[in-house]
Amino acid sequence: MPGREHLQAAIGCDDAPVTVPWWKSGVIYQIYPRSLQDTDGDGVGDLKGISRRLDYLTGLGVDAIWISPIYPSPMADFGYDVSDYCDIDPRFGTLADFDDLLSQAHARGLKVLLDFVPNHSSDQHPWFVESRASRANPKRDWYLWRDPAPGGGPPNNWISDFGGPAWQWDEASGQYYYHAFLKEQPDLNWRNPAVRAAMHDVLRFWLDRGVDGFRVDVLWHLVKSADFQDNPPNPAYRPELGEMHRVLQLHSTDQPEVHDVAADMRAIADGYAAAGRGARVLVGEIYLPVEQLMAYYGGERAGVHLPFNFQLIEAPWQARPLAVLIASYEAALPQGGWPSWVLGNHDRPRVATRRGQAQARIAAMLLLTLRGTPTLYYGDELGLSDVPIPPGQVQDPRELRQPSKGLGRDPMRTPMPWDASEHAGFSTAPPWLPLNADWPERNVARLAAEPGSLLALYRRLLALRRAHPALAIGDFALLDAEEDVLAYERRYGEERLVVALNLGATPQRFEVPTWARDGRPLLSTLADAAPVRDGVLRLRPNEGVILTLAG
Ligand code: GLC
Repeated sequence: MPGREHLQAAIGCDDAPVTVPWWKSGVIYQIYPRSLQDTDGDGVGDLKGISRRLDYLTGLGVDAIWISPIYPSPMADFGYDVSDYCDIDPRFGTLADFDDLLSQAHARGLKVLLDFVPNHSSDQHPWFVESRASRANPKRDWYLWRDPAPGGGPPNNWISDFGGPAWQWDEASGQYYYHAFLKEQPDLNWRNPAVRAAMHDVLRFWLDRGVDGFRVDVLWHLVKSADFQDNPPNPAYRPELGEMHRVLQLHSTDQPEVHDVAADMRAIADGYAAAGRGARVLVGEIYLPVEQLMAYYGGERAGVHLPFNFQLIEAPWQARPLAVLIASYEAALPQGGWPSWVLGNHDRPRVATRRGQAQARIAAMLLLTLRGTPTLYYGDELGLSDVPIPPGQVQDPRELRQPSKGLGRDPMRTPMPWDASEHAGFSTAPPWLPLNADWPERNVARLAAEPGSLLALYRRLLALRRAHPALAIGDFALLDAEEDVLAYERRYGEERLVVALNLGATPQRFEVPTWARDGRPLLSTLADAAPVRDGVLRLRPNEGVILTLAG
């Protein structure tokens, strides 16, 4: 497998050498730390477990890991309720374990991103404990406190993303506080300069330690309208969507001032690169329509480097709508804005569940051949599917608060199956969530030994991205979206590649453009692709092929 140096050299061999930061040419792998690898026998993954699996990750061929929160936390929302931003939760290890993980990752050329949770802290965070102590406390204004509405009750109609009112009454101080998520996750007041300064110090704490960037949790939530107007009702509301969708989050999210907040964070991250301390990246979690999403790249001042693009998670799996989605996204990108693609994460159903095993292979090829930075969710490279969780074993607060609506997130957070030994090599104890029932067959050891496995395909695709600048950083052009075929070109310098994906379960013919008729298959998602004959590439059911025109 060619190393990173190979790609750098290839990138530099064009007329004008191009310097591409690692976060553009690289691939990010998301780790849900409770579920990757346990080493202390409590059934919950930990930092030493991640260190133990670094060779697996470099062997897979990813460039960076993003680790969901590992800070001290009461775990009301499994770490997204932080009670100390500058330490490690003992369940995951210690700061020394983290430093060790970081240096081991860096020694392998792997970057490490942390999850920065700036919108809310835990209600156990000392800042909130002080804030709630009295109305006169200097930290009172660090959170969002309001008097009851004139007629009594919550100050406005805002609804928590986990259901129920987003306001919690505090008897002792006689006011409500706002929480976009659980009442154990009070929202910080980002209009307060002291909060900004404290959070900037958090960023510097980790950047100084050497982390390569952050995924920024619910970035579009950070600033709320100054006058806390009611949100308008959502005309498309249906109960099965979950209660938060009763209203449109017009005033509680995506306020213009959030872009200044993002720009300040960006300035901090870029300051490290400017000082010669290496490129650091900010990836923003933002669930918004494309037009609003684009604003997070920034305007006069740069915003985050990579606003996550989650569209593939919910897109209809058909050639034309996908082609429209991709083309519109590409067209909407601002000058210099680098694309992002995601197939799944710890909040959404897994791709193998949504698309099935056969199309999971096509999804892999799509994710890793589109233009932009892909983020892979742990276990998706095995075709891991969602695990039904018996009611008595539910852990996710969202499911516990709004049961049986399909909103639960435990099913996609189950332990990584490493081998066929007891507890799948994940732990010596029963894991915190059940393993997928298929773990005796679907595990890393087994799939690594099968040349035709999805894992082997992921490895090949990742190796190809490394070897071919056309895939990693090349231009993109749509070629075709007829029936079940989605085809596009990737091009860099002299190299032209054609990707043709059969999104269905029947054979398809793809009329190769004239310039590509001499193309030969570089990779198929199935074994050996048929060559192009008479200008036609014959795709088998559920087959994707990459053709190369080089030399
Ligand atoms: C983000 C996280 C999700 C969490 C929520 C509240 O959406 O991805 O897991 O529950 O923020 O922090």
